[in-house]
Amino acid sequence: MTDKNDKFETRAIAKGRMSEEHFGAVNTPVYRASTILYPDVAAIKANTQPYTYGRRGTPSTKSFEDAISSLEGAAKTVSVTSGVQAIGLAILSVCSAGDHILMVDSCYEPTRTLCDRTLRRFGIQTSYYAPTDDIAPHLKPNTKAVFCESPGSLTFEVQDIPAIVKTAHAHNNGKGASVLMDNTWATPLYFQPLKHGVDLSIQAATKYIGGHADVMLGYVAANERHAARLHQLHGDLGLYASGDDCFLGLRGLRTLSIRLARHQETALTLARWLQARPEVARILYPPLEADPGHVLWKRDFSGACGLFGLVLKPVSEDAVAAFVNGLRHFGIGYSWGGFESLIVPAHIKRTAKPFVAEGPVLRIHAGLEDAGDLIADLEQGLARLKEAS
Ligand SMILES: Cc1ncc(COP(=O)(O)O)c(C=O)c1O
Repeated sequence: MTDKNDKFETRAIAKGRMSEEHFGAVNTPVYRASTILYPDVAAIKANTQPYTYGRRGTPSTKSFEDAISSLEGAAKTVSVTSGVQAIGLAILSVCSAGDHILMVDSCYEPTRTLCDRTLRRFGIQTSYYAPTDDIAPHLKPNTKAVFCESPGSLTFEVQDIPAIVKTAHAHNNGKGASVLMDNTWATPLYFQPLKHGVDLSIQAATKYIGGHADVMLGYVAANERHAARLHQLHGDLGLYASGDDCFLGLRGLRTLSIRLARHQETALTLARWLQARPEVARILYPPLEADPGHVLWKRDFSGACGLFGLVLKPVSEDAVAAFVNGLRHFGIGYSWGGFESLIVPAHIKRTAKPFVAEGPVLRIHAGLEDAGDLIADLEQGLARLKEAS
């Protein structure tokens, strides 16, 4: 049992449990089901069964979605098969042909591709704003959605979400544009979009909520005003997340707070160590006081994850490769949020305002390994970089 005063950590343990319906099992077991049987014709007519057909939900999806709704403060959460699917669903639930979406320039690149290639084909127009811009001059009479991703997952600019919400909601004489936010970096543990006025909170649960690099999962959590449309479109498009994946999402949720605290601690240790190195121009990580987004991050967020950027001083591509290729504890891969450390060169695409970097940019995910081992590995890598320069 929880009450409204319980903290996130407590609710992440308690919510979405239905032990009494499952022979006492603590977490809701995996349900794999398409057909759901009705006891008789009267039950079909009454239409009061909690489950009607596998695609429309099972106890596994309900447990996951109920837990998320509590943590996000949402009226409705729908689960889908990936973060990108959640992004597309959220946008389509507010935009129609002829509408305009104002997209942050620092968004995850597939979000940009979705807008510029596919949504354009369906008559939805996109333009881009720099993450720290005042959005007012960018709004158009047909702007229906303002999309945020804060911090951006390659360049880590922090956005002033309350200010964006205020301007977007006042647009068109108060008719307003909806605010959508990809909150994968902070997770609902460290930032709750809906409590800051965002209308649709998007999460690639593939990352920290799954937490073990072994599941693809996403969700959209909606406030009261956006819940019905979101639910309806989720059904119309036949979207769904499997019982297995929701089970893994729910299991990850139970340990999210301790994992994130450790990711954050290790990331801070690595970031501070790297910041003092002569090969490094700067670190992109809002918890560092020198970061341009630090003040906003401190005002709005209660923590940080393990993902940050590293800007090297000018150096050849071969030297960067010598640094990255020989690392023992950092996998080379595009994802993040799992238990393992990762590193990847960042290819930054901008169309509203260039991102100016002194040298090559790399993205690091600090995993759950020993921080001293990770530093020793990076130190040897920087020695290789120097040798190859
Ligand atoms: C910020 C951000 N949002 C969304 C996604 C998409 O998530 P998924 O891979 O589950 O589609 C990613 C994936 O890397 C991401 O980094």
